[in-house]
Amino acid sequence: MEGVLRCSEHDLADLRAFQAQMYGSGSRLLDQERADWLFSRHPFRRSDEPTVWICRRGGKVVGTEAGIPFDLVVGDAHYRGSWAVELVVDPEWRGHGVGAALSEAHRDSCQVSGFLNVSPSGHRLLVRRRSSDIGHIPMYLRLVDTKRVLRWEGVPRAVRLLVLPLVAPGLRLLDTAGGIRNGRTELVPVDAFDERSDTLWQNVSRLYPAISRRDATWLRWRFDECPDRHQYLRYYVRHRGRLIGYLVLRRTEWNGCAALSIVDYLAAPGDVSRLLAAGVRIARQLDAAVLLCNTLNQRARGALRLSGFFRRRNQSIRFFAYTGDESLLRDIQDPTKWFVTSADSDLD
Ligand SMILES: CC(C)(COP(=O)(O)OP(=O)(O)OC[C@H]1O[C@@H](n2cnc3c(N)ncnc32)[C@H](O)[C@@H]1OP(=O)(O)O)[C@@H](O)C(=O)NCCC(=O)NCCS
Repeated sequence: MEGVLRCSEHDLADLRAFQAQMYGSGSRLLDQERADWLFSRHPFRRSDEPTVWICRRGGKVVGTEAGIPFDLVVGDAHYRGSWAVELVVDPEWRGHGVGAALSEAHRDSCQVSGFLNVSPSGHRLLVRRRSSDIGHIPMYLRLVDTKRVLRWEGVPRAVRLLVLPLVAPGLRLLDTAGGIRNGRTELVPVDAFDERSDTLWQNVSRLYPAISRRDATWLRWRFDECPDRHQYLRYYVRHRGRLIGYLVLRRTEWNGCAALSIVDYLAAPGDVSRLLAAGVRIARQLDAAVLLCNTLNQRARGALRLSGFFRRRNQSIRFFAYTGDESLLRDIQDPTKWFVTSADSDLD
């Protein structure tokens, strides 16, 4: 068959051969377990076929795009969403409308599509196809072990001389104050998310105007059933005996230093600072020098600042979205409405 079609099991071998040609045979994108988890076992999928599209020309696969379903909750309404990922066209076939046709097929499968981490050529395609440029998903950084970070040779001399005397004592004060304020905050390790996260979701989701569903069903799929599940540190966060949120972290590296990254979190805006303080505590226990967090969450900006996080200007992720639904357009174009973390799309 020619043209763009939904990938069936008969197309899988051709798709894998095409991807090996595009990305190299060692690429993570060829990992079948990962692909099954993302595109065939998603709890919000609407059919048993993988959420992957391919384009054939002369019988050969010449392009592909995949979608990771999400359920976008805007006020009381739910919209079928899909994060567009893995869009690639054979260089010999670029400039012939294959990318646009794949994008079209993906868009037709949902009510709102999202794009994170867009390449320059992807950017041109999205702008031409009337996707909205929502802006950037900022990356925030919190120093945990200032001395260790400053040993990194890339730190400019001026920063080295200023940061140590000024910032380090400030952060220590913040930690002490946080320790007193959040003294009754407790971290409960989670092996598998349970119905407690449904209650949390019901209480908290309405405080965020545009958020993808983060209930127990999604959390189990996203973290407990993920092929990388052993890398995630999962916690419920309780304050004075009450569940106020959850935190998911993973170890990573930042400029040669051991780091910890907040992959996902959820709490009422007023409780986010308690979650962040708990994250700093975990980072310290695990001997991480910095704590990182990619998030678009206008309601948490104050909490991030007051918890000692600063924004990395040159490290943020471009965010586009598209909807054909006029009534939804104004909401999705407004970056102040969105709640996004590294757990959305395939960012993490
Ligand atoms: C981004 C990418 C998928 C676009 O695929 P593509 O098949 O070349 O996309 P299209 O053909 O639909 O559009 C590309 C260009 O060809 C032009 N074009 C499309 N159909 C055409 C036609 N029939 N005749 C002449 N030009 C045409 C478009 O106007 C567009 O021009 P522009 O980029 O200057 O605006 C491809 O460049 C790619 O694989 N890049 C590497 C991976 C990547 O960056 N993926 C995106 C991740 S977000």
